[in-house]
Amino acid sequence: MSEKVTVTFIDESGKTRPVEAARGATLLDAAHAAGIGIEATCGARGRCRTCRVKVLKGELSPPTIQDLVQLGDEEVREHFRLACQVKLIADCTAQPMPPREEAGHKILSGGKTVTEDSRLEIDSGVIKHVVRVNPPSDENLQTSDVEEVLSTLPVGTDRRVPIEVTRKIPSLIRTNKGVVTVTTFAGGIIDVEPGDTSAHLYGMAFDIGTTSIVGTLMDLKTGEQLAEVGSVNPQSIYGGDLMSRIAFAQFDPKKLQTLRAKALNAINDFVEEACTKAGVSANHVYKIVVVGNTCMHHIFLGIDVTHVGLAPYAPVARDLIVLPSKDVPLKGAPNAQVCLLPIVAGFVGADTMACVLATRIYESEQVRSLVDIGTNGEVVMGSKHRLVACSAPAGPAFEGAQIRNGMRGAVGAIERVHLNGDVECETIGDAPPIGICGSGLIDSCAVFIDARIIDASGRLRRERRELLTKALRDRFVDTPDGCEFILVHKDRSGRNEPIVLTQADIRQLQLAKSAIFSGVAMLQQVMNVPNADLTELMLCGGFGNYISIESAVKIRLLPELPLERITYVGNAALMGAQMALLSEVERRRSLDLARQIEHVALATHPQFQEIFVDGMNFSGTTFDAEKKSLAKAARESKLTATGS
Ligand code: FES
Repeated sequence: MSEKVTVTFIDESGKTRPVEAARGATLLDAAHAAGIGIEATCGARGRCRTCRVKVLKGELSPPTIQDLVQLGDEEVREHFRLACQVKLIADCTAQPMPPREEAGHKILSGGKTVTEDSRLEIDSGVIKHVVRVNPPSDENLQTSDVEEVLSTLPVGTDRRVPIEVTRKIPSLIRTNKGVVTVTTFAGGIIDVEPGDTSAHLYGMAFDIGTTSIVGTLMDLKTGEQLAEVGSVNPQSIYGGDLMSRIAFAQFDPKKLQTLRAKALNAINDFVEEACTKAGVSANHVYKIVVVGNTCMHHIFLGIDVTHVGLAPYAPVARDLIVLPSKDVPLKGAPNAQVCLLPIVAGFVGADTMACVLATRIYESEQVRSLVDIGTNGEVVMGSKHRLVACSAPAGPAFEGAQIRNGMRGAVGAIERVHLNGDVECETIGDAPPIGICGSGLIDSCAVFIDARIIDASGRLRRERRELLTKALRDRFVDTPDGCEFILVHKDRSGRNEPIVLTQADIRQLQLAKSAIFSGVAMLQQVMNVPNADLTELMLCGGFGNYISIESAVKIRLLPELPLERITYVGNAALMGAQMALLSEVERRRSLDLARQIEHVALATHPQFQEIFVDGMNFSGTTFDAEKKSLAKAARESKLTATGS
């Protein structure tokens, strides 16, 4: 029997593509090896449904329990399967089902702009010198072209000139009356161009998030933002959260390169897209600041992430890094300076440092906190006297992964839920509902707690339904897997089946929200700061923008502070990257701050387990019986083990 089988993939337009794969490999592996981008948000663990395919022909391994749980009997009977679970045993034909939710995925870029920070002094470190160079003459033979260029520049200019720049010099100084523009960064020459190009001086700031990549093109002379770009991080087809991404690339340099190429291609496309939008040349982009969490930072640089994903989760490098764009390689001027902000420790990465810069939390007299709610959440707390930080990995539940009808925040996602005798859902784009995103999940649990549909320990309380209106009572259904609650009936649903909230979904939300809640609580304990002394809690990052703060406090995702003390500060990571782009003072400041911040490793902290279990509860008081079941759920998830 041949060791190979042929999988014929059919795309949406009906085009076929036969691919050879090893017998016994998964359909997902076969697709990825052939460059077919089937998304695998849960990292091929059978816990989401993003890798759903329809098998049109051929024999496959029997459906797994994950197929049945994620897709249900009906879909499995209709030959839908999870590509990550299907083992290839014979030739077959399959059609990837693009996740419908991708349409109009909300990406949060900019928000506030750096120029609103009146204290920011623009000094990007990139200077254009327009000079007239005289080539060596008969009177002065003991010199060279490069020395003549250097003689026109300020004393102290670095004499080491990159070889590609040296190659351009002879012809440039002998045309156009020797008028050239020499560009320097931090005293070193990075480019020479003919004539006066001093009007064109640009840079880009990028935030590489686990979920999305956003960037801005900026004028380095004025600080003006010229263009914004962004998309879903294309690496997400290999896993939605950071640990899945690490697991994919661990011990496998080729897979690391696959992830790296995805990020670099996206960023290079963004450089071009932004320059085209703004009508400028990419050759005039001289500085690019990149921030991202430790995993994204390392993958961007092609650094092995194997040990980043293993206790004690130490990064390979933590300092400020500057390297020429051609060494990455990134588009822009060939010697454009690509600058990465420092890492604090563990998963508290360069993106957090950018948030620290942007919020100026390090200057506060009073204690403030900044919280980035995401698959890999981070919390920083402190004032000018002391700063502490931790990583609070919430996992991908807020992205809709591991939730039965979960989806990202895109058109058709339920984002708000109200109770008015019955359930009322608002969707993104006012489209027919096709699933529920993180903010909808938080909202629904908040209103269901009020209505006592869910109790403090997170259990759907079917037995109390007699207290509810008939419309609400009729939404409870018993299934072999337990009780479920119908959010949208089949006739109102855009997916031709009811949209439900399951007991397992609520558990996933509890684990995710407790990661953030207990991160904040842990730092409060370390700093000895009760709620009364926490003067501001700043939410940053894409997700924080879309949640209802009231609902987040109600479900104990956020501590119980007066709502006016909880503010939303936009994409602070991108804003911090912009500050480091426009100001060398800010870029260098990030290193001092990174070394000043005390990193609290949650996983090894003796009180963390207890705080985490308490954080899973929806109310401040927990009964012993509830504690046991919550502790079991916490143990079974890996979230408590990866807080580093
Ligand atoms: S279920 Fe296959 S990747 Fe998540």
